[in-house]
Amino acid sequence: MHVSIGTPLQSSAFKVLLLGSGELGKEVVISLQRLGVEVHAADRYDHAPAMQVAHFSYTLNMANAQELQQLIDQVQPHLIVPEIEAIATEVLVAIEQKQQTTIIPSAKAVNLTMNREGIRRLAAEELGLPTSTYRFADSLESFRAACDDIGYPNFVKPVMSSSGKGQSRVKSFAEVDAAWEYAMQAGRVNQGKVIVESQIDFDFEITLLTVRAKNPETGIIETHFCDPIGHRQDSGDYVESWQPQPMSTVALATSQQIADKVTTALGGCGIFGVELFVKGDQVWFSEVSPRPHDTGLVTLASQFQSEFELHARAILGLPVNTTRHSIAASAVIYAGVDDTNLSFGNLQNVLAQPNTDLRLFGKPEGFKRRRMGVVTARAESTDQARDIAQQAAQSVAVQQNH
Ligand SMILES: Nc1ncnc2c1ncn2[C@@H]1O[C@H](COP(=O)(O)OP(=O)(O)OP(=O)(O)O)[C@@H](O)[C@H]1O
Ligand SMILES: [Mg+2]
Repeated sequence: MHVSIGTPLQSSAFKVLLLGSGELGKEVVISLQRLGVEVHAADRYDHAPAMQVAHFSYTLNMANAQELQQLIDQVQPHLIVPEIEAIATEVLVAIEQKQQTTIIPSAKAVNLTMNREGIRRLAAEELGLPTSTYRFADSLESFRAACDDIGYPNFVKPVMSSSGKGQSRVKSFAEVDAAWEYAMQAGRVNQGKVIVESQIDFDFEITLLTVRAKNPETGIIETHFCDPIGHRQDSGDYVESWQPQPMSTVALATSQQIADKVTTALGGCGIFGVELFVKGDQVWFSEVSPRPHDTGLVTLASQFQSEFELHARAILGLPVNTTRHSIAASAVIYAGVDDTNLSFGNLQNVLAQPNTDLRLFGKPEGFKRRRMGVVTARAESTDQARDIAQQAAQSVAVQQNH
């Protein structure tokens, strides 16, 4: 196996096209830039975080097949790296068949994971992985029946949505119609379809970052695991994460088996965020992202190679090292207001503790619940790291400028 990288902006350039330019993409771009890759970043709005560190940027509707195809024809990238789910994936499937451009990790993975139905059917029905019980519904009538079938409380999610949009926890039949309305209003590329899931009564939930990367000697793709990441979710968004999350040996082995099965089925090289629910020795598969995971921001502080570096290396065909060197936590910084042109103050105190670090994503516009940055902290224990990170994140003073 022979991997080489050319010179950016010259004919030998190794070109990567990032579809979606958020804060996770920004860190991937920085990792790629360090390796001399020519980076092209796309999103639906100007000055998105990853665009600010890429060589070239493009603003378009990536869910529009024609616009997306045109961009790919123009850039002619070696790799296409989807960072979000709202993409015209049929274009990627067709491109992969031509074999000039590699879709990361694979068109199949991108296609199946953009829709909760695709990945759930693969995991539960094809691979036989343990999941919550579930039904799909595409009308109010079938939704009412699905809710009664699954029981209460249950979780309702549009099949095409992420970050908690349009999701609700339905506690009784009285709440069913409102949940349907809410789901229908919020679905991103709404297909008018939802999944109804039984509630799993877990002790804690984890993200198991799983990397598929080529062995440098054999060229064969191997699976590597990071230490489990614990996290706390609020309204479908992560507020804090920590690594490692302590768990039983049996639960960890089961988690790795589940992650191995599902990522092998999806194929390709790169990092996956496998979301799992854990109760004692029991583990349920929840969902998987074929890309870096927001809760994995903690690896910027805890690992020799963060999830972003791992992704960059794996997609380039380079070897990876998932070793953790520290106990760490991350805490999210929210805008808290709906406004543009924000400043982030009191940073001398935010970073007063020696083992803390900060990322400000540079998003041009904030709104109350929008993630604008993250604090990481290293400490002797996860509890300590969480305390420090939380306190630091809360002491960021978001200021409006007019
Ligand atoms: N069946 C379930 N049982 C118990 N809790 C659940 C269930 N489904 C979802 N949750 C809770 O809601 C959170 C968000 O659900 P899920 O990960 O499916 O949505 P999401 O919109 O993809 O979120 P994100 O994009 O932030 O990962 C989970 O992390 C978990 O805390
Ligand atoms: Mg999730």
